[in-house]
Amino acid sequence: MKISIIGQGYVGLTIAASAAEHFEVVGFDTNREIVAKLNSGISHIEGVQSSVLAKLIKSGTYRATTNGSDIQGSGIVVIAVPTPLSNDREPDLKYIDAACKTIGENTTTQVLVINESTSFPGTLRNFIKPAIDKYSSSQIEHLYAISPERVDPGRGDFNQKNTARLYSGMTPEASGKTKEFYSKFCDNLVEVSSPEVAEAAKLFENTFRQVNIALVNEFAQIAHALGISVYETLDAANTKPYGFMKFTPSAGVGGHCIPVDPTYLAAVAEAHGAPATFIRRANEVNLEMSEYIVRRVVEDNSGNLQSKNVLVVGVAYKPNVADVRETAAELVIEHLRSQGAVVSWHDEVVGSWRGESSAPLQGADIAIVVTKHDSVDEKKILASAPYVFDTTGKVKGAKGL
Ligand SMILES: NC(=O)c1ccc[n+]([C@@H]2O[C@H](COP(=O)([O-])OP(=O)(O)OC[C@H]3O[C@@H](n4cnc5c(N)ncnc54)[C@H](O)[C@@H]3O)[C@@H](O)[C@H]2O)c1
Repeated sequence: MKISIIGQGYVGLTIAASAAEHFEVVGFDTNREIVAKLNSGISHIEGVQSSVLAKLIKSGTYRATTNGSDIQGSGIVVIAVPTPLSNDREPDLKYIDAACKTIGENTTTQVLVINESTSFPGTLRNFIKPAIDKYSSSQIEHLYAISPERVDPGRGDFNQKNTARLYSGMTPEASGKTKEFYSKFCDNLVEVSSPEVAEAAKLFENTFRQVNIALVNEFAQIAHALGISVYETLDAANTKPYGFMKFTPSAGVGGHCIPVDPTYLAAVAEAHGAPATFIRRANEVNLEMSEYIVRRVVEDNSGNLQSKNVLVVGVAYKPNVADVRETAAELVIEHLRSQGAVVSWHDEVVGSWRGESSAPLQGADIAIVVTKHDSVDEKKILASAPYVFDTTGKVKGAKGL
């Protein structure tokens, strides 16, 4: 069977690589540069190795394309496109709509459409299906299912194969076919009673993280005000074998999921007249962490950062990946610049970002560690400036939360 996957980013390419071990896979993406890279056997994400991709291309089971008509003849089409926030930080389904257009215009026989993009409950039933119907020139009744992705790029212990996967079809036939597809490369499939439950579960998982990270970030500020160590306190609480889960403070949350998904949940809640005050506040607390950190650094440096050379160490949103989407480093840099600091950044995993290149890890007046990659030497960080503020809790001997 031919499978098409719309969007060849972190999620889409991961699925494509697994599915291509069992099916003929076409990866459709609107980004020409990414498609050219993929077709020459170069992966652009951490979770899929170039050697694996090259092997799949050579065996003829995978190819990338920018041509929508190449999805014709597929039995299954998976949607894996971005679901960002709009400028006013509300859900923006424009990429999903574009994916539906590609599907509607290029399918002349019945397909199973599976959505893996994260969105609010009701997206499959009330947005994706009507959009595909609208863009189709024929009256075909497609099958529809949801299976939210849980991949954590760069993670070693849990991957697509051994992480439980939720799914639900809009009809029993869609559910059955979805199970058949994923069972080829996922060990543990969990069916839920409706697509809306699967969509809501995905949002709630990430909201759980957002809220707990906000809680520990607020607690870090309380611990500092009380003159006690936040890390020692968390370790002490973590000796309780039940009813507690340890989260650690940070400069904020980043990536495409944790800062975004809770807003999707809050928006759909409010649209249905249910308040989401707690979720909205958690988001604010995490966004405010960058300002708090810069305030602490200002206090430690005689209340003035004017013309100081400040090096931000680690701008990826989390360790050991090159992903800078929604990174907390962006707000930290913004607040530092508003204080008159001359800011550069060091991150060899990221390399270049916003038209700037990674600066050497040395010679600064102040260093602020936002993300600590395993490859970055702790001693070199400590030697990079006379004052080092660590937001990660990983650089022993530095000032910190
Ligand atoms: N990255 C993660 O860890 C992760 C985990 C779980 C769920 N998700 C969700 O999965 C979805 C995709 O996220 P991602 O991280 O893979 O995004 P990504 O930005 O890495 O990849 C998305 C790809 O889609 C392409 N694209 C955009 N519009 C398109 C269109 N109309 N047609 C075809 N391709 C198009 C982009 O060029 C890009 O290559 C999002 O809803 C996200 O919330 C992501």
